[in-house]
Amino acid sequence: MCCSVAPPLVTLSPVIFFLLLADTSVMQEELWEDYKYGRQGLGMNCTWKCILFTMQWPGGFCESLYNETLCRIPETVNNWTIHGLWPLHALDCCGCWHMFHSDIQDLEAELTEYWPSLLKTKSPFQFWKEEWRKHGSCAACVEGFNSPLKYFQICLKLRHQFDIHRLLEAAGISPSCERPYKVAEVQRVLSPHLGDRYEIQCVKDHMDRQVWFQLKVRLHRNLTLGCDHHDGDPVVESGPGPRPSSGHPCPPDAPFFYFPINHQQPQRPCG
Ligand SMILES: *[C@@H]1O[C@H](CO)[C@@H](O)[C@H](O)[C@H]1NC(C)=O
Ligand SMILES: *[C@@H]1O[C@H](CO)[C@@H](O)[C@H](O)[C@H]1NC(C)=O
Ligand SMILES: *[C@@H]1O[C@H](CO)[C@@H](O)[C@H](O)[C@H]1NC(C)=O
Ligand SMILES: *[C@@H]1O[C@H](CO)[C@@H](O)[C@H](O)[C@H]1NC(C)=O
Repeated sequence: MCCSVAPPLVTLSPVIFFLLLADTSVMQEELWEDYKYGRQGLGMNCTWKCILFTMQWPGGFCESLYNETLCRIPETVNNWTIHGLWPLHALDCCGCWHMFHSDIQDLEAELTEYWPSLLKTKSPFQFWKEEWRKHGSCAACVEGFNSPLKYFQICLKLRHQFDIHRLLEAAGISPSCERPYKVAEVQRVLSPHLGDRYEIQCVKDHMDRQVWFQLKVRLHRNLTLGCDHHDGDPVVESGPGPRPSSGHPCPPDAPFFYFPINHQQPQRPCG
């Protein structure tokens, strides 16, 4: 045979495939850089205006799980804990932005206390990482939020700012197995500190009682209270799973319970 034959397509395609792959990874890298440094290139939109800071009460949290036996409250947890900080209507989420343990190493002790995983099946780091991927990376197009460290620092700062337990205790509202409370009573105490855009959330327990388990506070990007970008309240519930109920606003006309934390029997705090 005199002439070389053009190589059959089949031998060429892996090369093309490789080139395509390389291209894609460059894109991913650019995307990631863009998030990391907060540049607004690549036609990104930083759409979110309001952010929801959600805290949970371990005395009621287990009731929000469909499978309560998965609940665990570490001995060190005796207070309101962080569930998450969720930008509303964010589009610029980037699952490509990995979070490493070293990113939050300096905050770990504090996070362990204020942002524990209350699920046997999830380590604290898994929980944080998931919240970063699902929510933190979506917030990261705003400068103050543009790294895992900054995001978690803001969360801790907010948790310290909203010292719910202390505010309520000072007004005589303490966790109790017997004494139910009214939404209006709690609002009287919290509204001066949380503005008028917050939600006191309950779940129904096995005895059909309303049980307080969560508190959602709306903030502006600059972390001031009361964001009311009127665009409906989307379901952003992303609980720590498995399948937590999203809860509902505690009904204003029915009493609800603010149960004590019970480490031995987290799912039946009052027996
Ligand atoms: C940015 O927003 C505009 C208008 O809403 C939309 O057309 C465009 O697709 C968005 N770009 C990206 C990258 O999401
Ligand atoms: C609940 O979780 C336990 C593990 O703690 C498991 O054995 C059980 O099957 C689960 N129940 C349901 C209804 O999923
Ligand atoms: C919860 O935190 C508040 C203020 O940070 C504190 O006063 C209170 O003692 C804590 N509760 C418990 C049970 O540690
Ligand atoms: C925070 O942002 C809101 C909404 O953009 C604005 O109305 C308010 O003045 C800002 N507050 C501060 C202290 O910057």
